Amino acid sequence: MIFLSYLKKAADKMSDRLNAAYLVIFFMLAFSFLSPAMALAQEDSAQLQAQGRQAAQAFASALKAELMAGLQAGGPAEAIKVCQQKAPRIAESVSAETGWKIGRTSQRWRNPANAPDAWESKALARFAAQAAGGVKPGQLIFGETVQKNGRRIYRLMIGIQTGGLCLKCHGASLSQPVKARLAELYPQDQATGFTAGQLRGAFTLRKPLP
Ligand code: HEC
Repeated sequence: MIFLSYLKKAADKMSDRLNAAYLVIFFMLAFSFLSPAMALAQEDSAQLQAQGRQAAQAFASALKAELMAGLQAGGPAEAIKVCQQKAPRIAESVSAETGWKIGRTSQRWRNPANAPDAWESKALARFAAQAAGGVKPGQLIFGETVQKNGRRIYRLMIGIQTGGLCLKCHGASLSQPVKARLAELYPQDQATGFTAGQLRGAFTLRKPLP
């Protein structure tokens, strides 16, 4: 009897060991399949974010150049028109060059056409919380693959910081001609009262995935 129970114990131990061995093999196999897929997903996302950042930078610097030229030529009240007319055109040419559809959005928008959709609102709320926690607006980035009409699209947002130059048209104290021009062109304007360093909004980009 004692011998039998010893045998049974030994067999149990053995089957425990076997189970453990099977488990190890199972996990090794699972990871050998999963880890390349996971690495790929992460790599893709990092690569897409780097690409998107470049497209946003191209857009930002072209826009800034137009803005500066407009300010020099006619002052802020005139530059408002430049901004209004040039921003969409620059966005289109950056799209054509890079394959990223690009725009700007904000929780406090000036042009209602720039108002955020549901996905953008979520990202902007996240940015606002991160900025309140001390992250610099220009460092904020959020990307995600979303499904739309059965197609995969990569959506990306990059934070925009309010600089000193921006205050002429987005600050707390605007000149009379700027106020008048804004009231005429953007009766629903919410994009004033900002201070330098604050989160102004975000570049919003999307690209269809294969
Ligand atoms: C000469 C005035 C002027 C200056 C200076 C200016 N902006 Fe604007 N900004 C505008 C106008 C006008 C619009 C609306 C453009 C449109 O109709 O799409 C706008 C729109 C925006 C938007 C898009 C969201 C929205 O509110 O509609 C962002 C983001 C923005 N500006 C950021 C900035 C930043 C950052 C700076 C400084 C680097 C800056 N702006 C400087 C006039 C200005």
